[in-house]
Amino acid sequence: MALANRDLVTIDDMSNGEIEALFSLADDMSASMGQQFGLCRGKVLASLFFEPSTRTRLSFEAAMHRLGGGVISAFDAGATSLAKGETIADMARVVGSYADIIVIRHPWEGAARVVADYAGVPVINAGDGGHEHPTQTLCDLYTLKKEKQTLKGLKIALWGDLKYGRTVHSLACALARFGATILFRPGPGLELPEHVVRKLTTEYGGELRRYESPGQQEEGQLLPLDAMYVTPSSPHQLAMMPDVSFQVELKTGVDALYVTRLQKERLAATDKPSYPVVNKKLLKGKEYERTLVMHPLPRVDELAQEMDGDPRSMYFKQAERGVPVRMALMALLLGVREAGQVGEGAGSRKPAYPPYRHDSGLRCPNQRCVSVQESETKYLKPEFLVVALEPLTLRCAYCEHDFHPGYVASTEWHEGRTDTRIYHRASSQWARKIKPENLLVFASEKEAEARGFKPDHLIGAAYRQVDQD
Ligand code: CP
Repeated sequence: MALANRDLVTIDDMSNGEIEALFSLADDMSASMGQQFGLCRGKVLASLFFEPSTRTRLSFEAAMHRLGGGVISAFDAGATSLAKGETIADMARVVGSYADIIVIRHPWEGAARVVADYAGVPVINAGDGGHEHPTQTLCDLYTLKKEKQTLKGLKIALWGDLKYGRTVHSLACALARFGATILFRPGPGLELPEHVVRKLTTEYGGELRRYESPGQQEEGQLLPLDAMYVTPSSPHQLAMMPDVSFQVELKTGVDALYVTRLQKERLAATDKPSYPVVNKKLLKGKEYERTLVMHPLPRVDELAQEMDGDPRSMYFKQAERGVPVRMALMALLLGVREAGQVGEGAGSRKPAYPPYRHDSGLRCPNQRCVSVQESETKYLKPEFLVVALEPLTLRCAYCEHDFHPGYVASTEWHEGRTDTRIYHRASSQWARKIKPENLLVFASEKEAEARGFKPDHLIGAAYRQVDQD
């Protein structure tokens, strides 16, 4: 199983078999840490952290030192030439010529993908805005596997900021792929983003059951849930009985409670959602006796310090295991170690969504996306996938934000015929007839009209004639 020269930008870049093989190598390295020195002799890691970090940065750098390689680093974008207006692509090209592997953390969603596209060496995403943090997920899965021996069939509750928590986005997808049941308990307004929900339900084929009226959170009560995800590989009879399932889930506890902090840095200053603190009182029930308490850290107020001595608490172990996991990852991507075949082989489970082909001036509506930043628009061509037709949904190829353009036209119908340059509401019956390869989308009527299209109600007769032809 060869991972050499590959990138890890999203958790979908590794198959389940590759992840298991990496865990096996991390076990070996952990058991003989002193013997790994020299494995990466002569290799250089570029450690670029343009958002604060303690664990990820220092565990990557410790991992490379333990492998006998060197580290060059930048941890303040203001002290690099990005501050002078250099593009991420230029930075990536240059750093790729100095280093053998790059780890990047950046506030813009999709930035790691741009670095991977231009660096020419393996690139690891150490967190890109609120998008993904795949190596944290490797540490989380590794801890779950070590403590519970399996991932399949585990029941994991995700707690807190599920909207902006990038660790949760990578983890939810990985847990789904490994056949875990996931219970979602977001703070108010902090539910999972649409693209993660779509991946869970469409790409991993599971069932997501939402609880419309979960009721009031009572003091000292872990649940109610917002939603429960059930994978097809572990059919769950409870999911067939939505009215009772969450009550039953409440009684049977969970294998792990994954707590996340509020990502204040991604919220508007006026937004102050809150959710209950996880403490001993909350977890006092017999049903939580074996529940692992996990957290990617750093914690702020959402997880009580009194949990630190509790044998169920795993968060410092998650952080500690970051070193062997990241040693194994870099050794594999640098090709100095091969992973043995474990379980399912390489091969993405990503469906082949049709690309959105036309340059209609469309921009990703996510303001945190790398593709809309002024410095990057000089060279980055927006890229989208058509992930659903009803309702019409496009996904930005950089930040994976899913959105619903309001207006559409067909290139097929208007080609060569100015009288048929017609646009439609994306929800109209006419829109549904457009093949993905002929789709032209507009964010607004103003934009459609600026591009020379007229609304269908103005030239309905001409349009209907063309439709019949
Ligand atoms: N879990 C995590 O990413 O921690 P840091 O922000 O300290 O790297």
